[in-house]
Amino acid sequence: MKKIIDNLYKSGWEQPDNILKLIRSKDEEVNEYLYKMALRKKREIYGENIFIRGLIEYSNICKRSCKYCGIRAENKLADRYRLAEDDIYGCIDDGYKLGFRTFVLQGGEDGYFSADKLSEIVKTIKDKYPKIAITLSAGEYSYDEYKKMKNSGTDRYLLRHETKSKHLYESVHPNMSYENRERCLRNMKEIGFQIGTGFIVGLPNCTDEYYLLDLDFIRKFQPHMVGIGPFMPQKNTPFFDVAKGELTKTLNLMALSRLIAPKALIPSTTALSTLVKDGRKLGILAGANVIMLNLSPPSAREKYSLYDGKNNDNSDNLITLQTAVKEIEGVGYNALVGSRGDHSDYGE
Ligand code: 5AD
Repeated sequence: MKKIIDNLYKSGWEQPDNILKLIRSKDEEVNEYLYKMALRKKREIYGENIFIRGLIEYSNICKRSCKYCGIRAENKLADRYRLAEDDIYGCIDDGYKLGFRTFVLQGGEDGYFSADKLSEIVKTIKDKYPKIAITLSAGEYSYDEYKKMKNSGTDRYLLRHETKSKHLYESVHPNMSYENRERCLRNMKEIGFQIGTGFIVGLPNCTDEYYLLDLDFIRKFQPHMVGIGPFMPQKNTPFFDVAKGELTKTLNLMALSRLIAPKALIPSTTALSTLVKDGRKLGILAGANVIMLNLSPPSAREKYSLYDGKNNDNSDNLITLQTAVKEIEGVGYNALVGSRGDHSDYGE
């Protein structure tokens, strides 16, 4: 198995059967070696640096029906909110004062936030802080709409493909098409965003062969960011009683992604740190190099409940930041808050 990992490290791919073995591996020695090589690869590109970004969840209103997600339209028990624009700007100001230079604005597919509206918001932020990086994570739009957002100063866009299996994708996302998902990603790449995609580990009926398809997609598409997190049940969704995604499988898939897309920005996700207490550290030690800290107003955090247990940390932003920095330094890495945290092909 070590030979397979060494070859993966050198060439960025391996025979499908061998990748499958690594996705499935429960052998501690093998997995430790996989993580070690993922860390070596990360170090070659990004040194010891871990980028810290601020996340602002601006709306939990959503027209979609994703069966795993707590803010799906059918969840009548979700307490809906939409931040006023001034509140969004206030979150950016607060984060900026704390040293953040990169922000992710994320929301449900809320019709109020049209491409024009989002572009206007990004432009307002960029006029005030021209040097920071802004990422949007707002779902599916047309080519022209994405183009508008790019022209307004948006640097990056996150849109997970969620699963590369068309069949599984369409069964968990009613009235959505896998083709359109990929079309959105290709459009954004052409437009010039740094784009992030990724998938959920542990959706019901997902097989290891499907994760192999996810990794093959990442190899071919080479997104700038790859977000991989465990499925976490939410009590008011159709998947309320589905088991959580597996920790080891999630970490193996993160490490494999690092070897397959060496330059990628890979977050150690909130879902991972909700799954297990030291999830954030384990993600970093499997090859992640990004941490996203929640800068949403406390009242919004409780309501942006994609899955149960997500909002257990309601500390002050400064404390949250200090805790994250300490944790990152504790495992021997360098926490960078004052950086745009660009992909290595972009640079400051
Ligand atoms: N468990 C894990 N991840 C989830 N997401 C949404 N709901 C869940 C859940 N229940 C992820 C999706 C989405 C991102 C914003 O959050 O992958 O793209």
